[in-house]
Amino acid sequence: MSVPASVHDLVQSHRVTAVIYAAAKLNLAEAIGDETKSVAELARLVSADEAALRRLLVGLTTIGLCRQADRDRFAMTELGRQLDETADPSFKDWVLFEGETLAQVWSGLVESVRSGKSAGDLRGDGDDRYAATSNAPEWTRLFNAAMVNLTRTIVPKIVVAHDFTVARVVMDVGGGTGELIGGLLQHNPHLEGIAFDLARCEAGAQAHFDRLGIAGRCRFVAGSFFEKVPGGADTILMKSILHNWKDDRCEVILRNCRDALPASGTLIVIERIMPELATTEPQDRSCAMSDLNMLRGPGGRERTEAEYRRLGVLAGFAFVGTCNIGSFNLVQFRKVGN
Ligand SMILES: C[S@@+](CC[C@H](N)C(=O)[O-])C[C@H]1O[C@@H](n2cnc3c(N)ncnc32)[C@H](O)[C@@H]1O
Repeated sequence: MSVPASVHDLVQSHRVTAVIYAAAKLNLAEAIGDETKSVAELARLVSADEAALRRLLVGLTTIGLCRQADRDRFAMTELGRQLDETADPSFKDWVLFEGETLAQVWSGLVESVRSGKSAGDLRGDGDDRYAATSNAPEWTRLFNAAMVNLTRTIVPKIVVAHDFTVARVVMDVGGGTGELIGGLLQHNPHLEGIAFDLARCEAGAQAHFDRLGIAGRCRFVAGSFFEKVPGGADTILMKSILHNWKDDRCEVILRNCRDALPASGTLIVIERIMPELATTEPQDRSCAMSDLNMLRGPGGRERTEAEYRRLGVLAGFAFVGTCNIGSFNLVQFRKVGN
């Protein structure tokens, strides 16, 4: 990929985040829709100062999210439509989460690099971001919605990357509000599903299963994967879980998954894979930025394939293989022993 010619350009990337966040917060994509609209009309629709809004629209045009038809009329581009909450794909909830929480958290990155500790650890909140936010329903709502945005774009790739025909009951451990297990069951009418996560995800998951019409064969089980993972599934999926945690915590989660599976049961870990040698390719950058996000946020890390293999084998699994699905990978393991 092209590298900016000047650090002066590169360091201003946070301005782009702020411009995209402002557009999402103003519901600009929904206000423009599929039409070309005047700044005056848009200013009325989104309750903004007309001259300032025009400047924001020009900024959005320069990063490819809007198109300027003439001096005072703008449309959304196809990329810009991803800011509309009803679009497919939509990243609006991710943009709100990035702008309202991650952007602030990242501003202290240097402290985490100096100390090796996450923002929560440095504040004295401990090393479990999810426990620390147990009384923060707005954070949880924003976070769950952002994860749905991201996971929704990956489900179709997961569904075709692995052959689920021999599976009967699949459990998504740390399955959030059920986006992955819901999509999987829609594509596989023979499957039953379990979403296992903290109780705070239950209402969202149940509503999702009702919406999809799969509530009869998909249930939510509340609990902590540090204590016990419920039995009943022959296949366990775990997407974007292990990267949240340090190795010792991952070992507990993996051992609890192993205990929950029958002999020869399948575990599929879905994560980004850290390159052994980083380049400026977008995939490497996305993984490295996610790795730093883990350092600053939950205190985990992105790992290489060898590191995932090691973790799985240590917890009593045999490594089966890895399948790349773009920015994510399916790392498959089989339970060894009983
Ligand atoms: C990064 S999110 C991934 C969600 C989902 N797998 C996805 O990829 O969209 C991590 C998930 O782990 C869940 N989680 C955190 N601590 C947990 C625990 N102790 N037991 C069970 N789930 C937990 C969170 O509630 C959250 O849904």
